[in-house]
Amino acid sequence: MKDFKRYTITAALPYANGPKHIGHLAGAYIPSDVYVRYLRSMERDVVFVCGSDEHGTAIPNQALKENTTPQAIIDKYHAQIRDCFSALGIAFDIYHRTSEKIHHETSQEFFLQLYNKGLLTEEVSEQYFDEEAGVFLADRYIIGTCPKCGNPNAYGDQCEKCGSTLSPRELINPRSTLSGKAPILKETKHWYLPLQQYEPWLREWILKGHEDDWKTNVYGQCKSWIEAGLQPRAMTRDLDWGIKVPLPDADGKVLYVWFDAPIGYISATRALFDELSSGRKQYSQPQRDFGKVTKEDWLKYWQDKETRLIHFVGKDNIVFHCIIFPVMLHAHTEYVVPDNVPANEFMNLEGDKMSTSRGWSIEMHEYLEDFPGKPDVLRYALLANLPETKDSEFTWKDFQAKNNNELVAILGNFVNRALVLTQKYFDNKVPARLDLSDIDKQVLKNLAAMPGTIASSIEQFRFREATAGLMDVARLGNKYLADTEPWKLYKTDPDRVRTVLNIALQIVANLGVLAEPFLPFTAAKINTMLNAPVRKWQRAGGELLDVGHVLGTPALLFEKFEDDVIERQLAKLRKKQTDIEIAKQPVSPLKSEITYDDFAKLDVRIGTVVAAERMPKSNKLLKLSVDSGVDKRTILSGIAQHYSPEDILGRQVMFVANLAPRKMMGMESQGMILMAEDAGGKLVLVQPVSSVRPGSTVS
Ligand code: 2FM
Ligand code: ZN
Repeated sequence: MKDFKRYTITAALPYANGPKHIGHLAGAYIPSDVYVRYLRSMERDVVFVCGSDEHGTAIPNQALKENTTPQAIIDKYHAQIRDCFSALGIAFDIYHRTSEKIHHETSQEFFLQLYNKGLLTEEVSEQYFDEEAGVFLADRYIIGTCPKCGNPNAYGDQCEKCGSTLSPRELINPRSTLSGKAPILKETKHWYLPLQQYEPWLREWILKGHEDDWKTNVYGQCKSWIEAGLQPRAMTRDLDWGIKVPLPDADGKVLYVWFDAPIGYISATRALFDELSSGRKQYSQPQRDFGKVTKEDWLKYWQDKETRLIHFVGKDNIVFHCIIFPVMLHAHTEYVVPDNVPANEFMNLEGDKMSTSRGWSIEMHEYLEDFPGKPDVLRYALLANLPETKDSEFTWKDFQAKNNNELVAILGNFVNRALVLTQKYFDNKVPARLDLSDIDKQVLKNLAAMPGTIASSIEQFRFREATAGLMDVARLGNKYLADTEPWKLYKTDPDRVRTVLNIALQIVANLGVLAEPFLPFTAAKINTMLNAPVRKWQRAGGELLDVGHVLGTPALLFEKFEDDVIERQLAKLRKKQTDIEIAKQPVSPLKSEITYDDFAKLDVRIGTVVAAERMPKSNKLLKLSVDSGVDKRTILSGIAQHYSPEDILGRQVMFVANLAPRKMMGMESQGMILMAEDAGGKLVLVQPVSSVRPGSTVS
């Protein structure tokens, strides 16, 4: 690994406009966390920063949906996302917020630096304006049909279906998210970053400079952007939510969210060093000893040429981190530019694109609620299947298989066998290694090479490969025990068992080091069970436990998931999607007003269905016999597509008892069962919440 003096690692600041799903974890957060944990284990000087992106139209848009204020939205989701990351072991040194004062100041200073150097161009142009709401429609306040893929709900800045970056004027049939109306065009002034002027620099820096070390998906996107011809991009917006443009003639204008958000990495680092130097802890959770620092030390992590800046993002963020933000940093002149942007593609879910708004997602908080104490299982399932070179797919069946066949059967099984056998035969103390056979020597040789192999994969951002390398360590141990069968030898050759278990325990101890970046909670458990200190990466590969060392108490690391656990998750996913589809359907308008007397004419009662059958020759009607309390009557009900006779038999129903009888298919119906019907035509029975006497009136 080329030695850099220090590392600044960023993970995309998530919009605090809703929960984040496991696809986000797979895109940026798990890979960055593994990388940083590895760097820390290598005792590198590293900072890992992240925080909430609290500006942009996504926030007020969500406030509209939740009928609350933008401030309430960011407060709620900032806390939720922060806590989920922490519970999943994503160990940022600071999780900051772009609504903080220090961020507003840092962004405004940055803007002024570019403005004062004459690097921003001022332009008056026509932009979409919602006449009813009286506002210009920036970015996500405008939706329309994507010109690239035809998605009818593409945003003014991006199509979430095909990932294209858009500008509002490119949308077909644009409409306002505020009023739903088609907008008009109106003149407004904005400040632009003339990206086209930086094309020669970008060609030199990315196309020539990073052809070999950037991932092909990232390099390819940059190349097509540059070759399509760069356009000036507005760095300001007409909005009332955001960071004020620090110029006298800019009332009602704020910085573009993609101008301020990446500066959030800088202000988070500033805030970290403010907190480290003052001892006040608000957003920081330093994950290593930073020693004695000053407030100004943040500068080293952003402005010293020997710092390696790496941005971890998902593929929809590539252009912002490879083109726009680097141009801003370069134009500013004092900052380093990213050395790499190892962006991942998307992770799909059960055959479809993951999406919170469509309900086709597993949100971080949902996983944590349903699988308490199992963050590492998710980390592993995601790591083993990261969308590193192309989109990948999460399925619950695969999650179950990764847990049962790999974590339980290989890693957990090996660690447990080594520890339990030592407890049984050697009083829980590490036995001495005696004469080594060929198989022992080979196993030790393989073990010695593994940390280097895994490290090399991590350093090349190949986290899937690195994770497989980690599981190979456990496989090595498992196979070694299976080949040597110490449990069969103890009576006849206890010395041989001593050697085998010594070696097996050394492999376990190595797992305690090597698993840490990937499965931090598991690594901690292994170290506790070994009663061993946490060791750094450089120590791995060899002997880590002394003879006679007393181990801790063995416990199972993982447990199997039975099929019903997985089936419940699949059912939950389908239900969530259906519920969201139903919630999105329009509610029918209110009917005209009636008097109390009109209402009082209705005789609505509760009855019990005592017999039910399908109406012959009809696929819609069920023939029900209802005990109405006063009589037993036949009611024909059009619910055969929603309920089977068995489903409805014995239920209490609400029915109109004084409706004039009506003939249907030659049979008389003596009443009408009441149902709730949604806009999609789905019928649901309306029932009393507890059983009542048949004939009870409803009023
Ligand atoms: O796509 C997103 O969720 C953005 N909020 C990412 C911002 S990354 C950085 F620039 F802050
Ligand atoms: Zn599209």
